[in-house]
Amino acid sequence: MKEEIRVLIKEEDLIARIKDLAVRINQDYEGKQLHLVCVLKGSVFFACELAKYITVPVTMDFMSVSSYGDAMTSSGSITINQDLDMGLQGREVLIVEDIVDSGRTLAYLAHMLEKREPASLRICTMLDKPQCRISKIDVAYTGFEIEDLFVVGFGLDYSQKYRNLPYIGELKIKED
Ligand code: IMP
Ligand code: MG
Repeated sequence: MKEEIRVLIKEEDLIARIKDLAVRINQDYEGKQLHLVCVLKGSVFFACELAKYITVPVTMDFMSVSSYGDAMTSSGSITINQDLDMGLQGREVLIVEDIVDSGRTLAYLAHMLEKREPASLRICTMLDKPQCRISKIDVAYTGFEIEDLFVVGFGLDYSQKYRNLPYIGELKIKED
């Protein structure tokens, strides 16, 4: 089997869009402190890039949830591998995700984090595959909507590979 990657979103387009999202976020959270909740590992590249252009005071925390394993399809079962360090009570929380597919991960996560009584809770995702949605979720900030493709790069992996690519690529697996 051969893995091939076709560039879908160039690095410069990705960065430009992330800057646009930061402008909107800066306006929406003016005068407030923003708490970014990054979902490991996929959202790390996006969260760090986004945070660079946020001008309101920012804190960041990380949590790890599993929803995919190494497969290319959503499993539907979600496990918390590592919880946040900080409490969320009274904070303006923005969950930062790499990609929304079925929406199961975020539906579960948002429900769980709401119980910790943040002042507000919103979702920001780098990519969205709206065609694949199963669980209804409210996404406040979306980088790009994409077709139902399996993508890698800028944090997104296939069997833990390709996270380091500076662009978003479509992964195609071909018979030798
Ligand atoms: P959901 O629960 O189906 O929305 O799945 C979301 C999670 O699945 C994301 O946070 C990713 O970790 C992973 N995922 C979904 N689609 C892709 C993809 O195209 N490439 C890599 N990971 C993906
Ligand atoms: Mg993710």
